[in-house]
Amino acid sequence: MSYSPYLLKDQKALVTGASSGIGEAIARYLASSGAAVAINYHSEAESAQKIVDDIQANNGEALAIQADVSKEDQVKAMFSQVLNQFGTIDILVNNAGIQKDSAFVDMTLDHWNAVIGVNLTGQFLCAREAAKEFLRRGVQPHISCAAGKIICISSVHEVIPWAGHVNYAASKGGINMMMQSIAQELAPHKIRVNSIAPGAIKTPINTSAWDTPEAEAKLLQLIPAKRVGNVADIAKAAVWLASDDSDYVNGTTIFVDGGMTLYPGFTENG
Ligand code: BGC
Repeated sequence: MSYSPYLLKDQKALVTGASSGIGEAIARYLASSGAAVAINYHSEAESAQKIVDDIQANNGEALAIQADVSKEDQVKAMFSQVLNQFGTIDILVNNAGIQKDSAFVDMTLDHWNAVIGVNLTGQFLCAREAAKEFLRRGVQPHISCAAGKIICISSVHEVIPWAGHVNYAASKGGINMMMQSIAQELAPHKIRVNSIAPGAIKTPINTSAWDTPEAEAKLLQLIPAKRVGNVADIAKAAVWLASDDSDYVNGTTIFVDGGMTLYPGFTENG
């Protein structure tokens, strides 16, 4: 790991959906860059506690907090816990996300609402609570030149339509406009809001897309870089966006996708 343990020194972070996959990697990288990290989880208490234990074993600061980010009362309770424990918050990583896939005509309202609830409403609720604290506290120049940073984990599917995943793609398209609108509104207060749009990254959400040689070969047809991404590819971008090294970056989406959004089907066609 090449980050300085001082890059995010004394900063306080919350990562939602941090008990596995991309969220876990981001939480671990933030901690190794010096931030205290709240590990939000929905149901994997044991895994969240293991991440906390590992961070503490490396002299870091961490705590695990259970909350369903789609529920306003649970999000408010989670932020109270973060503020009680850490005193304030500097970095929010809106990572929690789910997929409930089906053919469009078979998509139930429950599956639509569940995905929009976690992926979009959850990011709204957490961003709002974080922004309130950023505005209350303002800039602390010895900590960061920003009053706060929000990083929304989106997807290449904020721009690539995805048959069979209409709820998911709609939630990610929504994140893009939400992120940019919040960024426009809060930039004068020195709050930065950006997204990372991962492509195909090896995590529990998409195991079937890469866990056999046949599936992986098919997936690689969509990736000009010819490799499936790792969680570290995303975590490194998140640390940069959380740090003052990206101070002039606001309202932008960074695609970390090995070129998936380059329309590889056109390489020898069209
Ligand atoms: C989805 C994955 C998918 C990837 C590329 C991500 O947002 O969660 O399941 O493999 O996009 O299609």
